[in-house]
Amino acid sequence: MFVAAKNLFRKPFDEGTIVKLKLYTDYLKEWAPVFLSKKVPIWKTVQIFDFFAGQGKDSLDNPGSPLIALKVIRSFEKLIIERELNVVLHFNELEEEKYNALVDCLEGCEGNFKIKTYQQDFKSLFNETYESMKESANFLFLDQNGIKEITSELFAKIIVLKQTDFLFFISSSYFRRFANTPEFQKHFPFDPIEMQNIEYYHIHRKVLAHYKSLIPIGKTYYLAPFSIRKERNIYGLIFGTNHTLGIEKFLNVAWKNDKLRGEANYDIDSEKIDLQSPRLFPELNVPSKRDVFEKNLSLKILGGEIMQRDDAYLYALNEGFLLKDANIVLKKLCIEKKIKSVIEYISADLHKNRQNVPIII
Ligand SMILES: C[S@@+](CC[C@H](N)C(=O)[O-])C[C@H]1O[C@@H](n2cnc3c(N)ncnc32)[C@H](O)[C@@H]1O
Repeated sequence: MFVAAKNLFRKPFDEGTIVKLKLYTDYLKEWAPVFLSKKVPIWKTVQIFDFFAGQGKDSLDNPGSPLIALKVIRSFEKLIIERELNVVLHFNELEEEKYNALVDCLEGCEGNFKIKTYQQDFKSLFNETYESMKESANFLFLDQNGIKEITSELFAKIIVLKQTDFLFFISSSYFRRFANTPEFQKHFPFDPIEMQNIEYYHIHRKVLAHYKSLIPIGKTYYLAPFSIRKERNIYGLIFGTNHTLGIEKFLNVAWKNDKLRGEANYDIDSEKIDLQSPRLFPELNVPSKRDVFEKNLSLKILGGEIMQRDDAYLYALNEGFLLKDANIVLKKLCIEKKIKSVIEYISADLHKNRQNVPIII
């Protein structure tokens, strides 16, 4: 009876939530081994913070973010013991009923890691736990409702942390709907007229540009978006990391989930490309995003703006492309004899292969 009553206010996850949780799952599976499989771990404490944890699962028992994180961490339990790691999972939910459902869901889930649950406002818990984040490797999941929690002050605090990746969810179409309200302008001083003129499907790209503009000049930090359409609304994820390995891994996940542009669960550029039944002329099957990326990278190399192999790779990562996509451009320029140097190509782990490989024109 009690369990049934608790399920009364659960609903099945909608399509957009399923996409969001798929990306969360895929990335956590990539992230966890970086810190939990290392033979000699640099960080003895590893923390996952799920600040907007919800109820744990939906009415059909599909796992929500807390149960997803638990499952991923459980799969590393042997290594956690062997490496004597201190893994802490923090789950926070403000609403009492949901918090109770969450706690209920986590019953019996203990293992060789700590589970901490909280029923607090996100900001106060963030501030309380912030100091501890300076001493550990962290993954922050910020699955807010709406848009207002990831303020510029909070963003600034997150991006200075070492070994910290984050993923946040945001209701991007609100940016257009509410851009001229005073409450909105307090958080996001966007030009309401410009907002009205943005292609609706591209709204999450604008949100990304906003957060990119908050990165101090000279600071190395990587952000990547994933736009999610749910009925007529556009939502999105923003991923952030200060490490090339983090952005490589997230982009791999994004491209796995969107084979054409690595960026959305819908046809974000309205190009109607169908890889199952391609058009007669091959160029019509190439998304304009890829075309623009390849042209711009070529121009930057030939114009002398990008003179090192690694800078070509970093350009690709910052544009939402993978190292292998930069290789396509470099190889093409070599074949066309527009660049002379023999380049040692790599397709993963840029951090392990940092070299001054000049691109000689
Ligand atoms: C989108 S849902 C989270 C879903 C969850 N991550 C999952 O995978 O099932 C957002 C949750 O944040 C909670 N919430 C809203 N404002 C909050 C706040 N200021 N602090 C903590 N939790 C909050 C809501 O009650 C809601 O359950």
